[in-house]
Amino acid sequence: MSLTGKTAIITGAAGGIGKATVALFAEQNANLVLVDYNQQGLEQLTKSLEQKNRKIVSYAIDVSHEPQVKRVVQSTIEEQGQIDILVNCAGICKMIPILDIKVTEWDHMLAVNLRSVFLFCRETFRHMKERKYGKIINIGSAAGKIGGLAAGAHYSASKAGVICLTKSLALQAAPYKINVNAVCPGPTQTEMTDAWGDKTNEDFAAKIPFKEYAQPLDVAEAILFLASDRSKYITGEILDVNGGLVMD
Ligand SMILES: NC(=O)c1ccc[n+]([C@@H]2O[C@H](COP(=O)([O-])OP(=O)(O)OC[C@H]3O[C@@H](n4cnc5c(N)ncnc54)[C@H](O)[C@@H]3O)[C@@H](O)[C@H]2O)c1
Repeated sequence: MSLTGKTAIITGAAGGIGKATVALFAEQNANLVLVDYNQQGLEQLTKSLEQKNRKIVSYAIDVSHEPQVKRVVQSTIEEQGQIDILVNCAGICKMIPILDIKVTEWDHMLAVNLRSVFLFCRETFRHMKERKYGKIINIGSAAGKIGGLAAGAHYSASKAGVICLTKSLALQAAPYKINVNAVCPGPTQTEMTDAWGDKTNEDFAAKIPFKEYAQPLDVAEAILFLASDRSKYITGEILDVNGGLVMD
């Protein structure tokens, strides 16, 4: 699964699944472009990786903001010469009944979880198309398939959007031999689910056939597979990592 010589942009890099993905990609010698709005988290991560002499750049931006996304993609092309891999992992989640979702909250959720994926996909596909090489991995969610155990309707809708955006782009990118896939985690132990509280997490874990949450590394392993040339004939796939929670 070597990523030597490959440049990867990873959004949500300072989060649970993002950090595990960064660690695996670093092990495989990828050049890393880390994106998150948590500047402090990015600085800590960069420092830990620089100790191992990695080539690493980070951008503290809001992934839903078009000019900032364009800047990251453009700067990466200028500085690294290429983008081989894009992992869209940044996201937010809110547990809230539909009657309490304000329009501003709906729009914010869709902007962070779906518009950002569209923006990064569009800008990197423009570049990958010319090189006829690229791997795009979007992070969906089991909630985008079944409506969510806990997540709000806006979260589930945004992740359903990510799944269909992935399939649509996979079709358009196939003539250029660019792979576009999604990983759909079930509940995974990160800050996102820590915020739900112990009782809720125990109740949800009991509903999973494996009877426990995924660890970030479980999800990252699937991302690495789709980023590597081991999966070169796989595109438009929505890969579940959910301990049997959803089987379709
Ligand atoms: N944890 C789960 O149970 C679970 C399940 C299914 C899918 N997912 C998805 O996996 C992805 C990663 O989630 P996680 O569990 O690692 O969560 P996390 O909260 O640990 O990480 C999310 C990261 O995204 C960043 N982020 C949020 N909004 C941003 C913005 N506007 N601009 C830039 N960065 C932003 C945060 O700073 C954070 O570092 C998300 O897309 C999430 O929806 C998570």
